[in-house]
Formats: sequence, structure tokens, C-alpha cells
Amino acid sequence: MTIPILFQPKSSIDYEITIDELPCLRFDKKVAIITNPTVAKFHLETLLSKLEVKELHIVEIPDGEAYKNMESIEFILDKLFSFKLDRKSMLIAFGGGVIGDMTGFCASLYQRGIDFIQIPTTLLSQVDASVGGKTGVNNKYGKNLIGTFYQPKAVYIDPDFLDTLPSREFAAGVAEMIKIAVTFDADYFKYLQSADLGDKEMLKDAIARAVTIKADVVAKDEKESGIRAVLNYGHTFAHVIENETNYSRYLHGEAVSIGIIMANALAYKLGLLDEHAVKQIQSLLEHYDLPTEYMIEDIESFYEHFFLDKKSANDKITFVLPKGIGDFELRSDIDKKLIKDVLRDFGGKGE
Ligand SMILES: NC(=O)c1ccc[n+]([C@@H]2O[C@H](COP(=O)([O-])OP(=O)(O)OC[C@H]3O[C@@H](n4cnc5c(N)ncnc54)[C@H](O)[C@@H]3O)[C@@H](O)[C@H]2O)c1
Ligand SMILES: [Zn+2]
Repeated sequence: MTIPILFQPKSSIDYEITIDELPCLRFDKKVAIITNPTVAKFHLETLLSKLEVKELHIVEIPDGEAYKNMESIEFILDKLFSFKLDRKSMLIAFGGGVIGDMTGFCASLYQRGIDFIQIPTTLLSQVDASVGGKTGVNNKYGKNLIGTFYQPKAVYIDPDFLDTLPSREFAAGVAEMIKIAVTFDADYFKYLQSADLGDKEMLKDAIARAVTIKADVVAKDEKESGIRAVLNYGHTFAHVIENETNYSRYLHGEAVSIGIIMANALAYKLGLLDEHAVKQIQSLLEHYDLPTEYMIEDIESFYEHFFLDKKSANDKITFVLPKGIGDFELRSDIDKKLIKDVLRDFGGKGE
């Protein structure tokens, strides 16, 4: 199955996302695969068996979000120069979102930009990170603060790679699928309620539906000046939770799950979501073993954290809220007191 991503207005950066067994790939150019030891151990052999290129190099970065930084970028770029890659050469991102974001960033920098393709190997990167061209790294000021918008030439999504993925990582990917379903597609939400994602065909279908929606949103708003922000549903809260827990207690998708619950509580108070829908979304998250509870220790500090998020432009927080299941509203006019009331319901002490 192939999903095109057709940018509007028309541009030359369109590409295709293929969701299927990884096809044989032939490139008459120098290619460097960027990966990590975990992914390489499980799947590099498969990738190599499908690849025919002029000259092949492999760069491994240690596994983990902690290595998503400028030092790794320097390391990768140095390697690319030592391989004498030229402007026609190509990179392959082979791994989860960490590898994908760094490979894209390096591709955008090396000799002012060379081609790259994405072969995502986590569910989160298959349904979210590999599509849309956001690249980057973290620094001491926060996550993903350094980066570029730089689209891949193609994305190859092979659900078979997920066979080795730990179940917590799998669930974290499902959280991003639920995020998309709640804000954009009631039918997809229903599908996720009854689908058996252990079944390969259903999983493939579920991935394809998420990717189709994301591709459509990105095509309309590549640089996130409008509708692309809807993909941040649950994330305004999730980013604070991740920060408060030092990025160690929760996987990103798990924090998003809790963030969705909090956003829903706000949507409920504003009359955008009824009690039945609130419960349905929570049950779906719990069905996939995602966390839905969090104890806010200090609501003042939690609230102030919203403003450290790079998406809170001009000291205004924009909340992405579901309007029923399958639709959304962007709100930046919500009364401070109402937001704090919602936070208080999550157990916080303070004002
Ligand atoms: N660019 C975007 O639009 C975008 C969107 C969402 C997230 N992200 C970024 O993506 C990152 C998170 O991505 P992630 O959840 O894929 O994390 P990750 O890349 O750290 O992968 C999670 C873990 O799974 C391992 N792994 C990968 N593939 C595997 C496989 N097939 N079998 C077994 N283990 C495997 C990895 O080595 C890692 O330990 C974050 O840095 C986030 O900022 C980017
Ligand atoms: Zn996310």
C-alpha cells in the first residue's frame, strides 16, 4: 500500500510512504545507513539483504534519547566526510524516532543538504515521527529545540520490524494513533476499539490510517503554522509531565496518554466533550495498557511549565481539544482559573 504526500501549494518535495514488506532497494550512489546497536542486532541483516548500492557505509549511534544531541550530529557528519560522501549521496534512517530525527537533521546539513529515506522500526516512528520532515536534536534547554524541516525522499514502513519491539514501546505508538483518531476520525477511533493489533493485516491497516491522516495534515501545513498543531493534542500536558519526571518515568507515548486524559478533562469543562466520550477515550487508552493517571504535586509549577514549551507563542498557551470524537478545537483563550481547576482535579496542592 502506498500513500502519497502531496504538498499544498504544489512543490517538488512530494514523496511516497510505502506500508508493506520492505522492498528491494537499488541506488546507484553512495549510501550511509544511520542506526543504533539495538536495531542493528535485530534487523540490519534484513536491510542489507534488500539493499543494492554503489558503496555502503554504516554508522551506529548508541541507543537512547540521551544521545539525541549535537555531539552525535558532529559524530555522524564526521563519519560522512571520512566516507567522502558527495552531494549525490544518500542517508538511510534505520531505527526509531531518535535515529530518524537525527538522520534527517544530518541530511539537511551535510553539504547543504543531501537525500535521505526513512525506514522506521518502532510503531511510534512508523505512525508519527517518520512522516512529515521534522528533524532535530535536544539540548540542555529542552527537547527538539535545534532542528530543521527537511522532507525525506521516501518512507518505507514494514510492520514486520515491530515483532521485536518491547510491548511498552508498542503501546506508546498506539497512543499517537489514538491521538490522531480522537481529533480527526471517529471511524478510525471505532476501528481501534475493536481491532486486534496483534493481527498483522489489521496492524498494517491501522498504521496506514494514521499515516494517511498525518500525511494529509502535513501536506496542508508543512511548517506548522496552522492545522499541523492539532497533532499536539495531549502534548501540551505531556511535555510538562515528561519534564517533571526527568524524561525517565514515562515513554513519550505514555506521557501523551496522560496528556490526552488531561486535555479531555479541560474539554469536558468547556462543554466540548461529554462524559460518555471522555470515558470511551480513557477505556481505549487503558485497553492498550497505557497510563491514564498522574498526581500533580504542585499545580503552580505545572502551570508555569506550560510557558517553557516552544509551542506557547507570545505567552499564550494553545490547547488542542477534542470536540466530540473525531473533531477538534484550538483554544488559546481559556481562563487561567479554569485550567488550574482542571490541574487541581489531578490531585495538585497549591493556590
Ligand atoms: N519528527 C517528528 O515529527 C517526531 C514525532 C514524534 C516523535 N519524534 C521523536 O521520536 C523520538 C521517539 O521515537 P521512538 O519512540 O521511536 O523512540 P526511540 O527511537 O528511542 O526507540 C525506542 C526504543 O526502541 C528500540 N527499537 C527501535 N526499533 C526496534 C525494534 N524493531 N525492535 C526492538 N527495539 C527497537 C530503540 O533502540 C529504542 O531503545 C523522540 O526523540 C521524539 O522527539 C519525532
Ligand atoms: Zn508525540
